[in-house]
Amino acid sequence: MNKISSISEYNEEYQKSIENPEQFWQDKASTFKWRSKWNKVLSWDFNTPKVEWFIGGKLNITENCLDRHLELKSDKIAIIWEPNNPEEATIKITYKELYKRVSTFSNVLKSHGAKKGDRICLYMPMVPELAIATLACARIGAVHSVVFAGFSAKALAERIDDAKCNILITSDGLFRGDKELCLKAIADTALNNCNSIKSCIVLKRTGEKVTMLENRDYWWHEEILKVNDSCSAEIMDSEDPLFILYTSGSTGKPKGVQHHCGGYMVYAEYSFRNVFQYEENDIYWCTADIGWITGHSYIIYGPLLAGATTIMFEGIPTYPDAGRFWDICDKHQVNIFYTAPTAIRALQAYGTKVLKKYSLNSLKTLGSVGEPINEEAWQWYHKNIGKEKCAIVDTWWQTETGGILISPLAHITKTKPTFATLPLPGIQPCLVNSEGIEIKGNGVQGNLCLKFPWPSMIRTIYGDHKRCKEVYFSTYKGMYFTGDGCKRDEDGLYRITGRVDDVINVSGHRIGTAEVENGINEHPLVIESAVVGFPHPIKGQGIYAYIILENSSISEDKLVTEILETVKNEIGSIAKPDKIQFVGGLPKTRSGKIMRRILRKIAEGSLSNMGDTSTLLDPLVVDQIIKNSK
Ligand code: PRX
Repeated sequence: MNKISSISEYNEEYQKSIENPEQFWQDKASTFKWRSKWNKVLSWDFNTPKVEWFIGGKLNITENCLDRHLELKSDKIAIIWEPNNPEEATIKITYKELYKRVSTFSNVLKSHGAKKGDRICLYMPMVPELAIATLACARIGAVHSVVFAGFSAKALAERIDDAKCNILITSDGLFRGDKELCLKAIADTALNNCNSIKSCIVLKRTGEKVTMLENRDYWWHEEILKVNDSCSAEIMDSEDPLFILYTSGSTGKPKGVQHHCGGYMVYAEYSFRNVFQYEENDIYWCTADIGWITGHSYIIYGPLLAGATTIMFEGIPTYPDAGRFWDICDKHQVNIFYTAPTAIRALQAYGTKVLKKYSLNSLKTLGSVGEPINEEAWQWYHKNIGKEKCAIVDTWWQTETGGILISPLAHITKTKPTFATLPLPGIQPCLVNSEGIEIKGNGVQGNLCLKFPWPSMIRTIYGDHKRCKEVYFSTYKGMYFTGDGCKRDEDGLYRITGRVDDVINVSGHRIGTAEVENGINEHPLVIESAVVGFPHPIKGQGIYAYIILENSSISEDKLVTEILETVKNEIGSIAKPDKIQFVGGLPKTRSGKIMRRILRKIAEGSLSNMGDTSTLLDPLVVDQIIKNSK
């Protein structure tokens, strides 16, 4: 089994993985079911960029998630589903059932003409059918593109268009806390502007009335009755695409990060098993949404590849009350719990009284992901949830990395609050200065890069390989640049300090400042805007927007409401600014570039030292903004 069991073994494995990466990954890959073996382990060149793993190998990831387990684990629970409303029944799906339901839905997709290589968009609530549909795409070799169900019609349409998806899978509506959202209506608006979708399959979840367009819209529950439950898996090349997942960058539209079958499979399982130190029969729960990479790798693929029981939760941490997470942990005797710092901080704010009702005794390992975890949240998590006996794994990774790259291994690596600690075997991080020179030694700080490929790394940006090269491989020659700043302490432990580009991390969600600005600028009275992040006690970072308006008689309050609505419609609620300041001008250099550094300082409230302002076109603008800052 590919599992490290001590720190000395970690050191040995790490050493082996650096000295002979191909042998190392070949050993890991050989525990999977391949239809035929690869003829070369790795070929790579970061300048093109081109990275290929297990070249010539044939497989289907769902045979490894499902079929492979049928002999020994067919009655084991694969998915436990916890509904938004605790009064509604929990659903448990065995590996055998999951296999059948995935096969059935694969046949539905095929009956709608889906075939290998097609792109299929999923815009769904956190219900078992989302996992089923995702796996069904993979089973027939179609490339899934899951779009988080909090995105607006416009954002959905953009993503469908970019990947030219021909099928959309959605639901009538979704429940989130005490809210109900009509997803199908949003999808309908999106589809008004998309030509590529030929079929839209609609799951009944909330039961609300929806409009069904003839010859385009089909009910999930009706379609599954028309097909049988056996579907042989499409044989895929190791380097065939498995999925696209859109993520934000510092400029332009969101990018369709593309992951491929073989390497992603090997790394998702390996990292899952090792970071969480998964043991057979552990109950594992990751609270993320499948609309993000965490859900892909550590709700669906990693756990199912390992034959684990994975919990899917439809709701939010504070509904019906702030004890919901802990209620679910006790109810299902969760052993491994994986969440985001923003959720920890939000629950921390409710105090420890709510916790009294829960034993939390089953917990062994607690994970954190998505943003830097501050010391206070780390300690609170450790003390009140982990009862000082659970390991905390602060896992650093990205949509592009496909899996966790820097993290403690639970109960093996000595932890240090706010530190993601050490790279997993096979991962070669390095810190570089602004000239791209590697900063060696310990007790240093720089830009975090990776200098050697790992199996689940991004292969391309869908439809735009040039952009993939520019964004990740051109800043520092011969290296993959993460966009994160990082410290390496005296003991060689890594601490991620946050983004060094124009990306904001709001509640663990990655949002490009340019995207929010474009959204704001859609309001007819907005002349120009500039968006920066600022420290936020719960969200980690909040969004601060400086906006120049045209003259009008409309009140500022009304304009704020309208602008927030515009952003919600353009992107989704997650991108709504927390603070809006109307300004007369923006600090610009003589060449017209906005000096965000200054805006960031003002948003942070650190007004004493503005740094070098000598290149400003009009320094008075800054004084004005400071005077009126929020
Ligand atoms: O800035 C880092 C932050 O989240 C970014 C990646 O965002 P995304 O692609 O949406 O994936 C999130 C889930 C993997 C990174 O560039 N980030 C993620 N995990 C951590 C983190 N920052 C600090 N510590 C972490 N553990």
